[in-house]
Amino acid sequence: MTEKNRKKLIIDTDCGSDDAMAIAMALNDPAFEILFFTVVSGNVEAVQAAENTLLTIERAGTYEPPVYLGARNMLLKELAFAYDTHGMDGMGDLGLKPERLRPAEGNGVLRMLEALRESEAGEIDIVTLGPLTNLALAIRLDPDAVKKAGRVVVMGGAGFGGGNVTAAAEFNIWQDGEAAKIVLEAGLENLMLVGWDACLGESMLTPDDIRRIRTGSSLGKFVIEINRVLMGLNRERFGEDCLDMADPAAMAAALYPDCIKECGKYWCEADVSPGSGYGNVLIDRYGFSGKEPNVWICSALRPDRYKEYIFRTLGV
Ligand code: RIB
Ligand code: CA
Repeated sequence: MTEKNRKKLIIDTDCGSDDAMAIAMALNDPAFEILFFTVVSGNVEAVQAAENTLLTIERAGTYEPPVYLGARNMLLKELAFAYDTHGMDGMGDLGLKPERLRPAEGNGVLRMLEALRESEAGEIDIVTLGPLTNLALAIRLDPDAVKKAGRVVVMGGAGFGGGNVTAAAEFNIWQDGEAAKIVLEAGLENLMLVGWDACLGESMLTPDDIRRIRTGSSLGKFVIEINRVLMGLNRERFGEDCLDMADPAAMAAALYPDCIKECGKYWCEADVSPGSGYGNVLIDRYGFSGKEPNVWICSALRPDRYKEYIFRTLGV
């Protein structure tokens, strides 16, 4: 893979412990060049998420794309951090900090628009791993520039399953439902949501998978250890050390589409009504609305290919 034909990528992240595994995977895929990261509040506050992203870049030890701070707050909704899932620092509260790297100067949303304006249509793919606030702001500022993006792959929505923060909603959408509504209705040609259901079932990392990753490389050890809070939660929920890795599933679907098992295009809309439905992504699976499908929904991966991709990019 020569430098010139690596696919260009922008990754938007609220870097918690599963984002970090996804970022480590992407930094080790030679078919892609991450131009930069944009950071958004979500799992933790954006400044902490930027620090977590920089730490992950240092631990990956490959190349060091700039990390730009984006939205510190959601468009309308009050922030509710995911400390119980990822720890107070988002990275398992191990006290780890970047030793050398610092955030880049400038705002991530404006940097994203600048790169897209300068790009050829389809030249840059975008992968989002957190709330859609940055992407929504970019759309509000310059929709034509955002439409120049190639694929836009979002970790978001519960797919055809249940929510993970309320009965109906998955965390990234629920954290900023209004931003998700803007993104879903922006008319993006190649928008894909990889739902939380895609990382469950046979795609859940088992104790054996976790052991292989933890013992297979120093990067593998890092990305498992920082997920210790989620592992503890799952021990209670499922009775064993297993990991539902939502962001790695979205990253695998984006960077290694051969691992996608189920994906279809449907009319979708984000529910921003007050009450128990807030943050739900309504998927019109059978076309009742009569509206033109606007979003690809990836609801299942091929566990073998998905896990092999994780193992390969983490070097285990
Ligand atoms: O629902 C899972 C998503 O919410 C993941 O992106 C996780 O990092 C959190 O942001
Ligand atoms: Ca995330």
